[in-house]
Amino acid sequence: MHRPTVVSTVSELRQAVAAAHAAGKRVGLVPTMGALHEGHLSLVRASQAQCALTVVTIYVNPSQFGPGEDYDRYPRTLQADLDALDTCGGESLVFVPRNEEVYPPGYATWVEVGEVAEPWEGQCRPGHFRGVATIVLKLFNMAGADVAYFGQKDYQQVQVIRRMVEDLNVPIEVRICPTVREPDGLAMSSRNAYLGPESRRQALLLWNSLCLADELVRQGCRDASIIREKMRERIESVPDARIDYIALADPDTLRPVDQISGRTLAALAVRIGNTRLIDNRLLELPEKNVARKTQT
Ligand code: PAF
Repeated sequence: MHRPTVVSTVSELRQAVAAAHAAGKRVGLVPTMGALHEGHLSLVRASQAQCALTVVTIYVNPSQFGPGEDYDRYPRTLQADLDALDTCGGESLVFVPRNEEVYPPGYATWVEVGEVAEPWEGQCRPGHFRGVATIVLKLFNMAGADVAYFGQKDYQQVQVIRRMVEDLNVPIEVRICPTVREPDGLAMSSRNAYLGPESRRQALLLWNSLCLADELVRQGCRDASIIREKMRERIESVPDARIDYIALADPDTLRPVDQISGRTLAALAVRIGNTRLIDNRLLELPEKNVARKTQT
């Protein structure tokens, strides 16, 4: 087992990354807010497979939480996180900055991303993506890594980060890795820790309704409003579930689609009691439709 080195200042982080680069090593970055689960560890492993040094950042970023959201109660489990990182093998460095290191007194610069940040999470959590884009750009600049790894569960977040990287010419490659699920399909999330046994059972609704959307497309349904309606009915069959949004959209632009005519993103956010969960699935047209489409 490799005990990861833990640093808390930007200068220590930069020194370690500079040394790795000087030794010709490729450096991967896995930004997290801690409370690590198998989803995070899969990103660490993806980085370790491609990079000689992996920097994992653990920082619960206050600027991406709105008033009344769960910043204060967000799980903080540093020791368990370090133990979990131990099990990954490979060389890693963990950056755990304090708030003053990230947002020193007088801090006044923010990153606002346009269109892809506007719907869904952007609408339900005003200011959220401003906080995410700002901290992610800062982490990119602090670490100077070559490639960064994010999970598909936060699909819109990854699109926001990709847009920012392209628009601001940030010299980093962004990789998206598959969502890791519990055996019954629930997407792994640090917020699953909030779920009691009954809510945990109800939380499966998110994945079930995404599977329903996939099944409807496979059966030939192409009308996005019908698919959304069936998903809504499925979710509303549970009295404790409240829908924030259900969207069927172009996977690149996140613009809504009326007809399913190619690869389509189904995304949703649902509150189960006090816990807000998100999930998504890429819906693929059955092979024969794709073949027919390319022939015409
Ligand atoms: O996905 C997360 O955990 C966070 O939004 C991130 C990317 C680490 C920024 O704080």
